[in-house]
Amino acid sequence: MNCQHLAIIMDGNGRWAQNRQRGRIWGHRQGAKQVDEIVTACCEVGIPHLTLYAFSTENWNRPPIEVHMLMRLLVHHLRTMDKKLIRNRVQLVVQGGVDKLPMFAQKELNRVMRMTSFPSPRLKLNLALSYGGRQEITEAARRIARLVEQGKLTSEQVDENEVARGLYHPEFPDPDLLIRTGGEYRVSNFLLWQIAYAELYVTETLWPDFGKADLLMALDEFGLRERRFGKTSAQVSQLPAQEARL
Ligand code: FPP
Repeated sequence: MNCQHLAIIMDGNGRWAQNRQRGRIWGHRQGAKQVDEIVTACCEVGIPHLTLYAFSTENWNRPPIEVHMLMRLLVHHLRTMDKKLIRNRVQLVVQGGVDKLPMFAQKELNRVMRMTSFPSPRLKLNLALSYGGRQEITEAARRIARLVEQGKLTSEQVDENEVARGLYHPEFPDPDLLIRTGGEYRVSNFLLWQIAYAELYVTETLWPDFGKADLLMALDEFGLRERRFGKTSAQVSQLPAQEARL
């Protein structure tokens, strides 16, 4: 299993709460607790990059009370999470239209990011907040357009590396595995550029129930996948050409 970057769409908080005749916020609260378990599990199994889809650009369209409660929950959780992050040498980073978050949330995020800016973290935890993959690619395109306007780049020099340089965290490798909880088969505008060759794993388990054992199961299945990156099976298993029955 070589998973350098795990990305997760944490879905199902609302259904988890509704199944228990509780309000959606209760599900989000439980979901936030699961974040801790999965962060710790990633440290234990040696995954160095984790990106969590915590709030999408589309989530702004939810009822204002739910949006407000999610922001408060994020801040409340960061306040209790910081010591654990430091103990496990986890560096917090964020990506998305973070300037659109309420100031109290931005301040708390900045505080925890400052406190956890380790020179060699065990895990980089990337929270996607007010994030959309199309928005990220659009911003990368705008950066290139500016460089061309300024004469620092010609159109011929625009290649995939140049686009990737304009993404929020170009230092992150592309995700090896994308997990979606809650049983929906969609990518929902998450890391559209970066997941070109990610392995997809969808589980019916709702996010508040997704624990370390579920993560290990997903990683086991990931370990069985053959990642060909467009090559043939023989090429990736380095069989001689004659054995590949050309
Ligand atoms: C999707 O479930 C979940 C979200 C939109 C929010 C995810 C947020 C958390 C897990 C808490 C964030 C906390 C930290 C510390 C990052 P849904 O509401 O769409 O569920 P449903 O599909 O069942 O309605």
